[in-house]
Amino acid sequence: MFKGVLFDLDGVITDTAEFHYRAWKKLGDEIGIPLDRSFNEQLKGVSREDSLTLLLAHGKKEEQFSKTEFLELAKRKNEYYLEMIQSITPKDVFPGILELLKDLRANNIKISLASASKNGPFLLAKMGLESYFDAIADPAKVANGKPAPDIFLLAAKEIGLTPRDCIGIEDAKAGIAAIIASGAQPIGVGRSEDLGEDIPIVPDTASLTFDYLKKTWQPNA
Ligand code: BG6
Ligand code: MG
Repeated sequence: MFKGVLFDLDGVITDTAEFHYRAWKKLGDEIGIPLDRSFNEQLKGVSREDSLTLLLAHGKKEEQFSKTEFLELAKRKNEYYLEMIQSITPKDVFPGILELLKDLRANNIKISLASASKNGPFLLAKMGLESYFDAIADPAKVANGKPAPDIFLLAAKEIGLTPRDCIGIEDAKAGIAAIIASGAQPIGVGRSEDLGEDIPIVPDTASLTFDYLKKTWQPNA
């Protein structure tokens, strides 16, 4: 049996993936780089700075901004995002997630957050979920963002486990790659067209039950 679950946050625990998209879109419009949902798939799971680098490359404007301006743009995007997430409450937790967290705790399965977001602790507090998490891996402490495995390695370490004993849950392609690279077993939330045909995928979080996790776990993988 698995001993831990490593959760992504944005797009898995609540709908903040949508707010990240809207905040990038607002910034993109201001600097003349239109972005659509299809391009946004590439930004999902990716750190703030790496996302901005991808966005500027998308608009062929990498050379246009100094380091200081780059940091100002990243800060501006975060300010738009922060404005959007102020009104988040426990009601915004995705269907099935609270039940899953409760079932995991009742079965002594450790729970760790493996989000690239520096706003993770703030969001867990807003949703009243802090007490369910045994650890929150700090993205500022890892050298490489998703798709590198670092944040999942840290999330497992912080609950005293090896990723081989853990399930990782993700809604982003970069995140699934990070889970696989860490050695944990992935479950995707979303569409197999976006996340891959070869891993267990649920269409939405309501299907993420403790029973489903037990069913997908492969003991000898
Ligand atoms: C990830 C999101 O969880 O966190 C990305 O999927 C986001 O869209 C990244 O860029 C970093 O988040 P933040 O809140 O630190 O800017
Ligand atoms: Mg996500």
